[in-house]
Amino acid sequence: MNVPDTVTTALADRPVDGRTCLEAGAGVGNMTAALVEGGAERVYAITNDADHATKVRDRTGQASSVAVLEADLEATPLPADAVDVVTAHALFNVLEPSSAVAIAEELTRVAAPGAHLVVDDYAPIPTDAAVRHLFAIENAAAELAGRRPALTFYPVDGLRRLFGGLGWEFDRTRTLLDPVPWTESHFSAHVDVVRSHAEAVPGDLGEQLVAAAEDVAAETGSEEVGEMYSLAMWLPETTSRA
Ligand SMILES: C[S@@+](CC[C@H](N)C(=O)[O-])C[C@H]1O[C@@H](n2cnc3c(N)ncnc32)[C@H](O)[C@@H]1O
Repeated sequence: MNVPDTVTTALADRPVDGRTCLEAGAGVGNMTAALVEGGAERVYAITNDADHATKVRDRTGQASSVAVLEADLEATPLPADAVDVVTAHALFNVLEPSSAVAIAEELTRVAAPGAHLVVDDYAPIPTDAAVRHLFAIENAAAELAGRRPALTFYPVDGLRRLFGGLGWEFDRTRTLLDPVPWTESHFSAHVDVVRSHAEAVPGDLGEQLVAAAEDVAAETGSEEVGEMYSLAMWLPETTSRA
């Protein structure tokens, strides 16, 4: 099902065969596809985006093991202790801190004792990177339009401590990309996001943000910078979950 190398690498040392798995934040379903290929008995793919849910259903339509659920992970529609493997591939960078904490709590609630967790994401981007400038413009537009940031980049140690505080034990970290290849199409997709937020920004500030984002994209084209990491943890059989 054409799974990116980052996803394959992150899952390579995880026990997926015959397990019940959750892809938290399904996007286009890369992790769901990899979990199916890895022999998962059941895969729950959860996203709050209707278009993403449709894409994941189309992509994995033949796999009876997959259930695509359109829902907010802050109220994950699964019972406690239901999942053996929890994955969050490139989810946390689209979560503001309060949502990240609420979702980490929910992922812990639905994880069975002995469960495995894989969280893959982008490390904070170096301050001199052009792509960081573009994301700053995107966040400004998102804050002005909707009072919340579009993107937050968490250090791997921050997520390790967040999940550690909920009872998970550290297993390993692994580098998935170093540097991260931010392509022309990434730049252009993020300029489009700035445009969509700018419509709701009053006055001519929105237009100025779009112009600034277009300038960064035109001047930079593409850029290789930053790191994508994979964090793996596991939940002890007898844990005192916070
Ligand atoms: C960047 S994509 C993840 C990519 C995907 N994991 C993959 O491997 O292809 C982020 C996904 O998380 C979803 N998402 C963000 N916040 C969410 C929330 N509170 N509840 C459910 N899904 C959420 C988005 O709608 C999107 O589908």
